[in-house]
Amino acid sequence: MTHLRIIAIDGPAASGKSTLGFHLAEALGYLYFDTGLMYRAITWLALDHGLDLTNESTITRLAQDVPIEVTEPSFEDGRPCDVVVDGHDITWDIRQPEVDANVSIVSAYPGVREALTRQQRRIGLRGRVVMVGRDIGTVVLPDADVKIYLDASAEVRARRRCDEMLQRGETADFVQILAQVIERDRIDSTRAVAPLKPADDAILIDSDKLDADAVFQRALSLCKK
Ligand code: DC
Repeated sequence: MTHLRIIAIDGPAASGKSTLGFHLAEALGYLYFDTGLMYRAITWLALDHGLDLTNESTITRLAQDVPIEVTEPSFEDGRPCDVVVDGHDITWDIRQPEVDANVSIVSAYPGVREALTRQQRRIGLRGRVVMVGRDIGTVVLPDADVKIYLDASAEVRARRRCDEMLQRGETADFVQILAQVIERDRIDSTRAVAPLKPADDAILIDSDKLDADAVFQRALSLCKK
């Protein structure tokens, strides 16, 4: 359907990147690779080992030493892939609120980013991949064939997060979630290394007034051009 090798999708938390990336990869028959889960895996491991998250060198060593395996899903429980570390399936553990609250600290460390970027680039350069993150089009794979920057207002994104949590039967406080979304945006976009921002040649899609299917159709048409 397309000769494209690499499709990069970046954007802030809860902008719908994962949903778009997953469906686009499915439609094209490409690998779907969500780079955020690597930062989440290191954060979860550090918390699980009781490490001090403010100790940059300890956390960096962890990211350099621990291989994170991302493979096809082995269960049909809604997971887009398996995330395995040290033989443990941590696919759902990395979605815990404690990981949400701490992942921006971990992903701001330059050494952590360098270690994970290396792994991401190796996978990306094999081609036929839809890679999703914050810095794919700017840093990880700047030669990507298509770069999409998916954005939405903080209010819309917080509302979506809230609805997802309520659907899963969890409790959700909109005001608290909105504050977390805004804080995460602030940390992600102001960090010194690979801050969240659109690549100069990225195509911006604002999903405030578009539903998931409309965003998908627009992205698919960009990939077919
Ligand atoms: O997309 P997500 O919410 O799962 O991302 C988790 C965190 O990882 C988020 O704080 C941003 C960071 N991240 C990053 O810095 N670079 C990436 N390529 C992907 C995610």
